Amino acid sequence: MPYATIEDMPSIGFGLWKIPEADTADAVFEAIKVGYRHFDSACDYGNEVAVGRGIQRALDAGLCERSDLWITSKLWNTYHHPDHVPAALERTLTDLGLDYIDLYLIHFPIALAYVPFEKRYPPEWIHDPDEAQPVMVKAKVPLFETWRAMEQVKAAGKVTHIGVCNYNSGLLHDLMNYASETPALLQIESHPYLTQTRLVAMAKAYGLAVTAFSPLGSLSYVELEMAEPEESLLENEIMIAVAEQHQVSPAQIALAWALQRGTSVVVKSSNPARMRQNLASTEIRLSESEMSAISALNQDRRYNDPGHFCEQAFNTLHPIYD
Ligand code: A2P
Repeated sequence: MPYATIEDMPSIGFGLWKIPEADTADAVFEAIKVGYRHFDSACDYGNEVAVGRGIQRALDAGLCERSDLWITSKLWNTYHHPDHVPAALERTLTDLGLDYIDLYLIHFPIALAYVPFEKRYPPEWIHDPDEAQPVMVKAKVPLFETWRAMEQVKAAGKVTHIGVCNYNSGLLHDLMNYASETPALLQIESHPYLTQTRLVAMAKAYGLAVTAFSPLGSLSYVELEMAEPEESLLENEIMIAVAEQHQVSPAQIALAWALQRGTSVVVKSSNPARMRQNLASTEIRLSESEMSAISALNQDRRYNDPGHFCEQAFNTLHPIYD
């Protein structure tokens, strides 16, 4: 039986963003071996076939059953039109080698012009990379139409929960006005430098679970030149002091803080020792004063901001946060 409710979702998910295709099957197999049961996938990560191979290898080895796994995937921006949502999900299911997924999320509140599978998959952000001045091309698809289509794929039984990513409070209020099926979950960037306290509280007040991506802060963004190495959360003196107090690593403190404030996390590691370390963060209990000291590190520092990277990398101004 699939997981019945969103509350049953394992609180630490294994993130699959930016794992090179060639390494992905091994990473997934290894992660299942060390105890991960929640995987955060997406069409846009370009590695769903390899994720499926890693899962299959683990199932064949008897490490777990399919029903022990919580698999999330995400609808890419070019498939927002209701005509394309079922096919996008079908493609993800085929690539993963699964007959259902546990959670399907709208990846960004950004509708882009459709790109057929045979032209390019995953289509990414730029509409036609061969153009002299490649840009993003928007599609006029309101989010309520995409949400209706998400509700329909859920009703068809191939997805057990649906939700959204990267919505701000305005979009979330609006979604709650038109949703027939209450979204199960909001996935957003969050870490001690971007606590998003009000958005998290609002999502919870509406009954949504919240997952934090990039829970360790800037690390993933340094290689993308979207963050400087010096701004690492893991080198922050408060994080280090709390880590020393508990005799764990600053990364574990960041994860424990996220869990204790009631968010789940998705975090990637290619290193089995760090994979284990991250899973073990569930055992850490922070005091109220440690929680407050970490929350006070907030700088509203967002690393994953389409308002920056779309303009810098895709020649298109497209802010979604003010
Ligand atoms: P590595 O794969 O070498 O462990 P994301 O924010 O996208 O989930 O990525 C997490 C980043 O943090 C990766 O670069 C990962 O590198 C690194 N990382 C993951 N777990 C830890 C940890 N426990 N300590 C330090 N770095 C970590």
